[in-house]
Amino acid sequence: MEKTLIILKPDTVQRGLIGEVISRIEKRGLRIAGLKMMWVPRELAERHYGEHQGKAFYEPLLNFITSSPVIAMVIEGPKVITTMRAMMGKTSSLEANPGTIRGDYGLSNRHNLIHGSDSPESAEREIALFFKPEEIYNYKRVTEPWADPDAEW
Ligand code: RTP
Ligand code: MG
Repeated sequence: MEKTLIILKPDTVQRGLIGEVISRIEKRGLRIAGLKMMWVPRELAERHYGEHQGKAFYEPLLNFITSSPVIAMVIEGPKVITTMRAMMGKTSSLEANPGTIRGDYGLSNRHNLIHGSDSPESAEREIALFFKPEEIYNYKRVTEPWADPDAEW
């Protein structure tokens, strides 16, 4: 099943919102396949956000993402990449719709709580940057058939 890399950014950790955000992911029916707290080394941040190198917000973004520990997760589920991006809301929390994670908990463009891979190619690249294969668990939640879009009842 499809996987994505989710990072609960330093503002989520500092503001005590880890549980709130993880709870939304779990309640949606998505599966946590890997999870760890880490202080992102500068070099990893540079590789992760390499596509933004040269942009005005690149250096401030690296400073932000390395400013405090984060929660890195591999989330698995049907169409999880687009599902998570929809749950996150627009990049700028100020413009994100209510009901989304950014739209409910933030106001900032940079301090926007959560990262989610934006394509299958990004997901594969980013998961490999943050997780070793043995840190990703292959299992099912017993409730999954109840939330499966392809289930036949
Ligand atoms: P992300 O990669 O973190 O999931 O966010 P995204 O796809 O929605 O947005 P992206 O364009 O990839 O931007 C990466 C992160 O850079 C910070 N940012 N700061 N003008 C600014 O100060 C600015 N613009 C973007 C945000 O933290 C954004 O999530
Ligand atoms: Mg992005």
